Amino acid sequence: MVIDVKTSSATGKIDIGEDVIARRLPYLLQGQKNFVLTDTNVYALHRPFFEKWMQGEELFVLPAGEEHKNFQSLQAILERMAAAGLKRTSRLFAVGGGVVGDIGGLCAALYMRGIDCVQIPTTLLAMVDSSVGGKTAIDVAGVKNIVGAFHQPIEVLIDPMFLGTLPEREWKCGIGEVVKYAAMDRHTFDALAAVDGNITKDLAVGLIENSVRYKAGVVERDEKETGERKCLNVGHTTGHAIELTYGLSHGESVLWGMKIETLLAIEAGVCNPAHGARLLQFVDKALALDGGEKPDFSNLGAAAGKASLDKKNTGDGNVVMSVAKDYGEWTLFTLPLPQYVQALTELAKKL
Ligand code: GLY
Repeated sequence: MVIDVKTSSATGKIDIGEDVIARRLPYLLQGQKNFVLTDTNVYALHRPFFEKWMQGEELFVLPAGEEHKNFQSLQAILERMAAAGLKRTSRLFAVGGGVVGDIGGLCAALYMRGIDCVQIPTTLLAMVDSSVGGKTAIDVAGVKNIVGAFHQPIEVLIDPMFLGTLPEREWKCGIGEVVKYAAMDRHTFDALAAVDGNITKDLAVGLIENSVRYKAGVVERDEKETGERKCLNVGHTTGHAIELTYGLSHGESVLWGMKIETLLAIEAGVCNPAHGARLLQFVDKALALDGGEKPDFSNLGAAAGKASLDKKNTGDGNVVMSVAKDYGEWTLFTLPLPQYVQALTELAKKL
């Protein structure tokens, strides 16, 4: 399946399928010296892939982990790109999960003021969300994705064969982002409702296609997140505060964020309670996927303060959340920071 993405700044495409690497990669690599960015986990799991398809390209293997999405890594990658003599026609191939895609995309945006980037996501999370839409970034001063650029990939190659080696926890992280789409996309909601929230691996390709198609439409209409694209941040305001405080993965944090924000929105009369209850059921099933261990949320009120660091906030002392309103409908929901902190302190006892 091929989905075209046309924004005001660029035209790209997303190619999904088992044959996508063989069909597209040799063509995209040919004719110039290219740069391949991956991380130690992906390289260890898929070394034959790199040897078969990317022999002779400049390979940079980043240490795995969100803590490496920083200035030091950015500098090291850019210096290597320059030392390798990459030209303006060279392409950067980011092969990995969200960290590799985000920092790789940013290097492509910066090198010679912008070279082509091809995203090859290897995790479910990167396939359904981060590889699509051109957001690139690093974390600075303890704030996630605070330094970055919009730089649309010329192509995203989504090959489900990479999911075969995905650890259970990574699968759960990706499911977090899939459940997020159910808050605004009717197709994803219906797909999850049809299986009562019991998401199994055989559903992966259908869920990826739904998510990517939905996201591509949003990105085409609002590339720079001035309005509609904010819907893709469901669960993320509180999720980012949880991620920073408890060291959970991004997807798990988004699931907890979605649970908390949906409960707050129901309580405030912003979300239809019956619809919210269905979403909470999907969230709970996803949270239970790897045994469902719950973090000690006793200091959730203190963690809540970090939500004010989120870049979606307007700086006027309010916390802004994107929440489900009803079937296929979402809205922005704003609470003053003290009220938000108080609400999370109360909720912590009930989660
Ligand atoms: N991950 C949210 C977005 O791409 O806008």
